[in-house]
Amino acid sequence: MIKSKMQTLLDSAVAKYVANNSRSQDMSEQAKESLPGGNTRTGAYMHPFPVYIDRGEGAYLVDLDGHHLLDFINNNTALILGHAHPAIVDALQARVAQGTGFSRPTALEVEMVELLRERVPLLERIRFCSSGTEAVLNSIRAAKAWTGRRKVARFEGAYHGVGEYALISYVPPLGPELGPADRPRSVPSAAGLSPAIVEEVIVLPFNNVDACRTIINENAEDLAAVIVDPLGTGAGTTPPTDGFLTQLREITTDVEALLIFDEIITFRVALGGAQELYGVQPDLTCLAKVIAGGTPGAAFGGQADIMALYDPTSGPPKIPHSGTYNANPLSMVAGLATLQTMTPQAYKKIGSLTQKLGGGVECYLGPGWGGSASNCSWFTFSGPFPADGSPQLP
Ligand SMILES: Cc1ncc(COP(=O)(O)O)c(C=O)c1O
Repeated sequence: MIKSKMQTLLDSAVAKYVANNSRSQDMSEQAKESLPGGNTRTGAYMHPFPVYIDRGEGAYLVDLDGHHLLDFINNNTALILGHAHPAIVDALQARVAQGTGFSRPTALEVEMVELLRERVPLLERIRFCSSGTEAVLNSIRAAKAWTGRRKVARFEGAYHGVGEYALISYVPPLGPELGPADRPRSVPSAAGLSPAIVEEVIVLPFNNVDACRTIINENAEDLAAVIVDPLGTGAGTTPPTDGFLTQLREITTDVEALLIFDEIITFRVALGGAQELYGVQPDLTCLAKVIAGGTPGAAFGGQADIMALYDPTSGPPKIPHSGTYNANPLSMVAGLATLQTMTPQAYKKIGSLTQKLGGGVECYLGPGWGGSASNCSWFTFSGPFPADGSPQLP
């Protein structure tokens, strides 16, 4: 069979990649002896092997073969200040010698929560946890407990971590089992999910308000919550169409279901996150990534009366919620250093850099490249250090 031109180009790019990354290739072979696939994050794998990272410096990654790689991902948007920003390094170094975790609260979590409440007034009460996955599962549990209902609606293709509900219709296989575009079916995206979960998750099409209204109304009696990533970041970053989030708020209010904003990525787009940007008031919000300054940390919160489900002061709480690393002092100081550095001026600067980047991509690829200047907004394009070598793509 004659190879297509595309396949020939691809083969030559892969051969060049393999030749340029011999240390990463060796590490990948060694890693596969102990880690399935040679790593610990599905998204970190690429064929034939990923580059293994030695360190991060500002806007760059340095891999095992010594390449300086301009990093547009910044640990999936967690590092809004770039790698090893001095404010975060200093805060962590100053704190680490005072202990790395206690089974009692610290004043740091109070400082952090007050800063978050200042920026997001709807966060009347907050609980910290260790990952976005936990923030999502806790907010869904709170919604089910608050409403006494059992179903949850989520958008097809959105990423909400790796909890049971999140793994329905996240990356559904293309084919007839998806159902019609305006009535997506609930399809497991992982083996091992209970059939009850498949039945409890309602799948909605993003940016199709009429279809959302119909599906939500049909499930009104059982529906505890709708969870939405306001910028559809899991599905290639799909900004909401005009009024979509506002109408979603109205529809959920009509059926007395809670609206959960998963702002785990979008909290980086403005001082008060996407809810400030779009002027929409969710009942519960999930946060992670930037709020922990690149360390493992997350939070969820919202209306005080709903969050009282977690309050242990008058007997056992309705929802027990523990976690060895919840509100860990290191993630608190790293998060505080990040948020304090992210002043309104800093958001303005990132916004204008984003426009510049998006505009440049648009000029280069033309208007049909499938994105827009505004949907680059979750990339970090800054870093305090000059490159110590010329940037190269992997
Ligand atoms: C929108 C969104 N929700 C949830 C998560 C899960 O967060 P974590 O990886 O901290 O569990 C992610 C992670 O990328 C995310 O982007």
